[in-house]
Amino acid sequence: MTIKIKNICCIGAGYVGGPTMAVIAKHCKDIQVNVVDINKKRINDWNSNNLDKLPIYEPGLAEIIIKTRGNNLHFSNLVQENIASADMIFISVNTPTKKSGFGAGKASDLKWIDLCAREISKYACGHTIVVEKSTLPIKTADTIKQILGSSKKTPAGELKTFSVLSNPEFLSEGTAINDLENPDRILIGGEEKESIDTLISIYKNWVPEEKILTTNIWSSELSKLISNAFLAQRISSINSISALCEKTGANIKEVSLAIGGDKRIGKKFLNTGPGFGGSCFKKDILNLIYICNHYGLPEVSNYWSKVIDINQWQTKRISRLVVEKLFGTLTSKRIGILGFSYKANTNDTRESPAINICKDLLEEGAILQIYDPKVSFEQVEYELENCVELDSKKNISKFNWIYSETMEKASEGCDALIILTEWDEFSKIDWGLISDKMRSPAWIFDTRLISNSKEATNYGLNVWNVGIGD
Ligand code: NAD
Ligand code: UGA
Repeated sequence: MTIKIKNICCIGAGYVGGPTMAVIAKHCKDIQVNVVDINKKRINDWNSNNLDKLPIYEPGLAEIIIKTRGNNLHFSNLVQENIASADMIFISVNTPTKKSGFGAGKASDLKWIDLCAREISKYACGHTIVVEKSTLPIKTADTIKQILGSSKKTPAGELKTFSVLSNPEFLSEGTAINDLENPDRILIGGEEKESIDTLISIYKNWVPEEKILTTNIWSSELSKLISNAFLAQRISSINSISALCEKTGANIKEVSLAIGGDKRIGKKFLNTGPGFGGSCFKKDILNLIYICNHYGLPEVSNYWSKVIDINQWQTKRISRLVVEKLFGTLTSKRIGILGFSYKANTNDTRESPAINICKDLLEEGAILQIYDPKVSFEQVEYELENCVELDSKKNISKFNWIYSETMEKASEGCDALIILTEWDEFSKIDWGLISDKMRSPAWIFDTRLISNSKEATNYGLNVWNVGIGD
């Protein structure tokens, strides 16, 4: 038995809510999908006729938005109204690390989840299936159930009931649409069979049934955290070995290939880099650490904390190395930063390793010329300066960085270029052209191993590659 779903409401129009609901709307034409958010600008941007203004850059997203928006996909700030008319509500709000109070710096801040549950409890009508889409600490479903249970009837006296499911999202930014269209698996945790089957019936519109995994609710909540922890652990493992390769003459690309050839290890997620970024890996591992301590498992929490330690160390050692190679001083030296997003094909800069590397270099007195194909000047400014006032028209901050519109501009007069994001265009750099613009002796630091170092060397540039050296 399944329940007929006519109206879905998704609370949170962010990197998960927007793309996920767009794909559901695409495949479930008989369902009205309403994505709501308290952030007015974000909703205006989702509704913009200029698709370049969508709040999220994600390959393939705009094409789906054109086909669905205004038909069965709607973006608005009408949170209460859309909760009231929904048969199923996805909670896709942010769950960042707490900044203050108990558990600050580790536990997830659940204030937005709490608020959503209260709004749902107050405004929902009839029977509503509430789906946890956000990444949450294990046992959050209990909290949500308790809050939902605080209101039993609508003002008109109609009985309200709820069923809570966990359905974590595994998409990666930059490949979100493909991940949503062809997921490795869909995970649904819950207790009531009817609600689980109803959610399965939605996914079955495009996902093969054998990919839909059902578990108890706690396994589902925990598996999302553990999935991210395992992925991040692989990156810290390979990054730790990148440093050993640089010391010994081994080549990290060859080592990755050699170990990844073992099917038990696998090829994916073995790319060394400047450290993992993004809004989730660090926060989810911090949360895991917090949970392990809470349950009296300090050995387990210590184990996972090393994944974060190595990540911070990797980023810092790259900053230090740049200073060393440039004769120990960056004062008044120009450095071009190629890439500011935390990975390619996204405009997201949350926890990007570029932020800390840029800050380190600015502190050393460098003048930075920052270029990223999709990250705006305002976003770089926000990350580096926490929104101090500056003359945005000139693209010049009162600090020592300049926003460059092109890669060529970013390299003008530079003593060094640092590739920090693996944007495809950085794999095709014309080193002849770029070397003419730089000041000699010039350095290229490739933290993503995507540039043609041989060609750069042929044009007289010094090249340092992560996991290989110079
Ligand atoms: P986000 O910050 O991009 O979006 C969250 C949105 O929720 C914001 O626009 C915010 O204004 C809105 N919001 C917060 N409280 C609200 C309320 N009470 N009512 C209405 N709107 C409200 O976050 P995100 O990146 O989409 O992540 C959302 C969740 O999904 C997090 O738990 C995250 O860990 C998880 N997740 C993220 C990704 C990813 O790639 N970004 C992938 C998988 C899972
Ligand atoms: C990650 C997970 O891959 C998703 O499954 C998960 O849903 C999501 O977090 C989440 O919960 O938010 P995302 O952060 O978007 O997705 O992107 P990843 O491709 O995982 O990259 C994360 C960081 O690791 C990036 O900075 C990337 O450059 C880095 N990375 C990735 C490496 O340094 N090496 C690799 O081999 C892979």
